[in-house]
Amino acid sequence: MKHLIIYTHFNSNSFTKAITNKLVNEATSKGHEIKIIDLYAENFDPVLKASDMSPDIETPKDILAYQKLIKWADHYTVVYPLWWGQMPAILKGFIDRVFSNGVAFKYGEKGPEGLLKGRTARVIICTGSPDAYYTQSGMHDAQVRVNDAGLFGFCGIETKITFFGDVAMGTDELRKGYLEQVASLVP
Ligand SMILES: Cc1cc2nc3c(=O)[nH]c(=O)nc-3n(C[C@H](O)[C@H](O)[C@H](O)COP(=O)(O)O)c2cc1C
Repeated sequence: MKHLIIYTHFNSNSFTKAITNKLVNEATSKGHEIKIIDLYAENFDPVLKASDMSPDIETPKDILAYQKLIKWADHYTVVYPLWWGQMPAILKGFIDRVFSNGVAFKYGEKGPEGLLKGRTARVIICTGSPDAYYTQSGMHDAQVRVNDAGLFGFCGIETKITFFGDVAMGTDELRKGYLEQVASLVP
């Protein structure tokens, strides 16, 4: 399996990073061919520009390379912390610039069509809020709608989402349990 991991955090001591390390170990032991995009380490420029959208201007080389990776993979794992109820801005900008019209989707006669069909994704979202609170308040459902219908599903990707809540204030036991759960999230 060609497995692309898209990791977002500035802090290598973060729980998001610990989850990503575990993920890489599990995917390696399952024999996956792995490529990792580390948006902060790669200093990704997340600001969508008029030039990105112009048919007369060549797509920047770094964006072309990321689009090649997106098309290369047959499975994605996207790992990030929830910031203000949303994905980090650098990841949002990555989606804006890389998952572009003609690459990730197109508008056909019957409306929008996903161009990444046949692929699967696991989105892992770490939150400070406890799972029970976010399930009850509808915040989990909101993430599912945005990530599936609004984004990866829109591009034709079969998408599953996992939440790891109470990451900062929860017990060591809780975090240990999340790390153990990662094995079951790797196909
Ligand atoms: C700028 C910022 C905004 C945050 N907003 C939220 C939020 O809206 N909901 C939430 O549950 N946690 C929020 N948090 C907490 C992070 O999600 C939490 O610290 C993270 O999941 C812990 O994992 P980490 O060690 O990988 O950072 C926020 C943290 C930061 C830095």
